[in-house]
Amino acid sequence: MADSDREKAANGMANLSVGDGTLDVKVEESEDFVDPWNVTSSSAKGIDYDKLIKKFGSSKIDDVLIERFEKITGKPAHHFLKRGIFFSHRDVHQVLNLYEQGKPFFLYTGRGPSSEAMHLGHLIPFIFTKWLQEVFDVPLVIQLTDDEKFFWKDMKLEEAQRLAYENVKDIIACGFDVTKTFIFSDLDFIGQCPAFYQNMVRIQRCVTFNQVKGIFGFDDSTIIGKISFPAIQAAPSFSSSFPFIFNGKKDVHCLIPCAIDQDPYFRMTRDVAPRLGLPKPALLHSSFFPALQGAQTKMSASDPNSSIFLTDTDKQIKTKINKYAFSGGGATIEEHKANGGDCDVDISYQYLRFFLEDDERLDKIRQDYTSGELLTGYLKKELIELLQPLVRAHKERRQKITDEQIKEFMTLRKLKFDY
Ligand code: TRP
Repeated sequence: MADSDREKAANGMANLSVGDGTLDVKVEESEDFVDPWNVTSSSAKGIDYDKLIKKFGSSKIDDVLIERFEKITGKPAHHFLKRGIFFSHRDVHQVLNLYEQGKPFFLYTGRGPSSEAMHLGHLIPFIFTKWLQEVFDVPLVIQLTDDEKFFWKDMKLEEAQRLAYENVKDIIACGFDVTKTFIFSDLDFIGQCPAFYQNMVRIQRCVTFNQVKGIFGFDDSTIIGKISFPAIQAAPSFSSSFPFIFNGKKDVHCLIPCAIDQDPYFRMTRDVAPRLGLPKPALLHSSFFPALQGAQTKMSASDPNSSIFLTDTDKQIKTKINKYAFSGGGATIEEHKANGGDCDVDISYQYLRFFLEDDERLDKIRQDYTSGELLTGYLKKELIELLQPLVRAHKERRQKITDEQIKEFMTLRKLKFDY
């Protein structure tokens, strides 16, 4: 949402980006809002993702696509795919076709370093990207947009750089393979790589102010740093931006796993790609990780009570879940036993969907909670016992990461792949 649109939104009007045009829509009871900076829904069930697919013009991840993943990789599909957590895509069949013909793609994802401590929601794209890297054995580039956060947040440049460096540790702690992964911060990297800057200016020449107004809701009082930033997030979609990895090859296709709020950047990228004679990036979109208070908003680092951070102690995790996790249960035990609980709005259940890998166990919990046999307290206990060791293990891995390791991931170099 553009800065000056906030007021409009508060008055019940919002600029919804639809395709290339911007539409003023009265925010009705059922209206969702999704752009790279704001995600809200008026429904406790969260965003209506089928509607979003229609609005954005992407494709649903269906059983056919999931079966293809399994057939090509010879591995069971990740539970994020099977459970619809990654639910939408663009052109994934095409990159799979090429892969089958022996022409592998590369992966690109990123993070805007806006907070020191990352939360559980931030992990979702990285957990999934790590799985993709493992099963497809392909190169991965990870962009840290410290420049973006400098433009959008009230933050010193040095602070944005420091946060990028802190976040790199959390990213590496997800288990990426250093021989297949290049991580870069925009502020450090762009000056070191002329090919990247060359692609940026090529992209900048293809997009008008009018177009970014339509796509991102910018207006006449938006700073020019923001207006030109989309070209910086677009550039890593092209293999020619990384000559040290791809040996100057321009036609290695790119697959981008990201939360669906990042799609506007890549609609723009896909629009300019053919004009530059470069392949359009393919996309895999995830749904949002809901706030503890309910799926009307996503987990946000700026509201500590809405989030479980990767730095939280066992005790903090327990307290936050018990105190804040929105319950889909009945108001009294009698009512709950009679009518059952609602998994669609129950945050503990929703988090279990993301993190409890055992399908059978999750299914049983769903049945028993829906029937009213299990109470919310049981779901909370189950979630606490799942998340405490998970966060503890992440912290331990993070603590062991050395400056040398970070340097290795962030050094411009050839990866283990030949081009
Ligand atoms: N803009 C993203 C954010 O604020 C960061 C980002 C950069 C990104 N490039 C990306 C996210 C590619 C997903 C895919 O978090």
